[in-house]
Amino acid sequence: MPLTGLESQKLKMIIFGGKGGVGKTSCSLACSVGLAEKFKTLVISTDPAHSISDSLCQEIGFRLQPVHKVPNLTAIEISADKAFKQFKQEHERELIKLFDTSTTFDAEDIQQMMSLSIPGIDEVMSFKTIIDLVEENNYEKYVVDTAPTGHALRLLSSPVLLDEWIKMAAKMRWKYRYMIESFSGDYNDDEADVMLLNLKKTVKRIAALLSNSEQCEFIPVCIPEDMAIMETDRLLKELQHFQITTRQIILNNVMESDESGFCRQRKAAQSKYIEKAAVLFKKMQVVIVPVFPEEIKDIPALVKLKEVLFGR
Ligand SMILES: Nc1ncnc2c1ncn2[C@@H]1O[C@H](COP(=O)(O)OP(=O)(O)OP(=O)(O)O)[C@@H](O)[C@H]1O
Ligand SMILES: [Mg+2]
Repeated sequence: MPLTGLESQKLKMIIFGGKGGVGKTSCSLACSVGLAEKFKTLVISTDPAHSISDSLCQEIGFRLQPVHKVPNLTAIEISADKAFKQFKQEHERELIKLFDTSTTFDAEDIQQMMSLSIPGIDEVMSFKTIIDLVEENNYEKYVVDTAPTGHALRLLSSPVLLDEWIKMAAKMRWKYRYMIESFSGDYNDDEADVMLLNLKKTVKRIAALLSNSEQCEFIPVCIPEDMAIMETDRLLKELQHFQITTRQIILNNVMESDESGFCRQRKAAQSKYIEKAAVLFKKMQVVIVPVFPEEIKDIPALVKLKEVLFGR
């Protein structure tokens, strides 16, 4: 059975995730190639290893690039590191002001605070880049390729972490505000307040998109091996916790051929895990993808994988 529902007009964002090496990048690119037949599509990689360039055989990087030989498909590789550096540069004044006015820190403490990471902010900044792209609305479909499970979960939990930090910062600000008000009887929001408010809005926008079941769907990619199935099970529970919709799972690298003794052995070894997956993920649609004789690299191979994923 192929993937379903991806062509619904309301569905904007499809996120692929799963254990390392199971085929997330191949499936997200093949899915993008399929969607681009009907929709203006943007594929976004949030993986620091940036493997979409390798898979497409085209240098992508941190800017929008039309994908060669695939009309309607654009790609970008987002760097959390660069996105956060940019944020720190743009908001240095506000951050210093926040630490300076809110606490009893001295100059050295503030310098130290500035060099520390704000929990979740690198990932929030990469998500902010995604959400800005989605809200610019230049594309009809946004496909996100993530790094292995741990990283994807950090990305998805980043709004919660950052929200905690904002609450703590806002509390410090409250004390400062109270002090100013008691001395002068008046307080006007300054740039540090505005920055906090904007961060809060970003967190809310991200959470709203992720938990919107009509607009966003997560597709776990798995292979018929015990460890991958167990990790996918844990991933599904986390996704449920974040209220992120999942309806279908890709079971990749399935051996279909009976041609040699090796193939038959492999097929037999996989069959119990395919059954296990069917039981464990019984509420979901399982999309079987065979193992191809060659690696999935460059457009013709991605088109072959697309034919399996879309059944056309
Ligand atoms: N169905 C398949 N048949 C044959 N080779 C495959 C298949 N799916 C993926 N591959 C190959 O397996 C390797 C890993 O695939 P891919 O890069 O898509 O995995 P990934 O989950 O994105 O990995 P990572 O966790 O490192 O990001 C690649 O060389 C790819 O070409
Ligand atoms: Mg990958």
